Amino acid sequence: MRTLGYTVIVVVLGIVASGVALRGRSGVAAAPAMHTGDPQYDSAGALLRPKDFETWVFVGASTGLSYNGGQVPGPGEFHNVYIRPESYKAYRETGKFPEKTMMALALYQPAEKVAPGHAGYFEGQFDELNFSVKDHAHFPEGWAYFGFGEASHLKESAKAFPKSDCYSCHVKNAADDNVFVQFYPILRPIMESHSHRKEPAR
Ligand code: HEC
Repeated sequence: MRTLGYTVIVVVLGIVASGVALRGRSGVAAAPAMHTGDPQYDSAGALLRPKDFETWVFVGASTGLSYNGGQVPGPGEFHNVYIRPESYKAYRETGKFPEKTMMALALYQPAEKVAPGHAGYFEGQFDELNFSVKDHAHFPEGWAYFGFGEASHLKESAKAFPKSDCYSCHVKNAADDNVFVQFYPILRPIMESHSHRKEPAR
């Protein structure tokens, strides 16, 4: 028992010490080190498929959000949206999406009635993967859009879609700098807090 008690104390002290180290001087927990790398292109300017988007910051999901007013059977596909961690951190601090921001849109087919679930839908088969990138050094309008195709045989690289396919809807309808922040609960409060700050003093 004595030995066990000692071990518990050592473990507790260890946790306290690492908490102190993480918090630093400001008293705010330091963000873990995140390095996902800038967008990479091949010699023809096609985007190389960013790897490990599943480890990025998950900003929100939608089901059956229709872009063109058409009706979809059932709940429609699930859309999961992620942002590169470095871009998330900058957005939180400045209210602006920095250059080299990357966002992923991963589509999943709806599935249902798999035991023990009786009702409702969950995300079934991974269907399709798209990315957006903000990079004025490569694209005159800043944002460019890419599709890596179906999940069963994802392409390794993709050329940007023509402006009229993707950009034009994003620039017109998205709440903040081409990004549909209005649909992402993790980014919405950040946009709101920064837009309050930007209001002119009365
Ligand atoms: C008619 C409007 C429309 C068009 C056209 C469109 N999108 Fe989107 N896009 C949306 C909406 C609405 C969302 C919000 C998230 C969702 O789909 O659930 C979104 C979200 C995204 C996101 C997540 C990041 C963000 O900007 O919010 C990516 C990546 C994306 N779209 C890629 C594309 C690509 C690639 C194309 C072209 C093949 C495209 N989109 C065409 C409306 C559009």
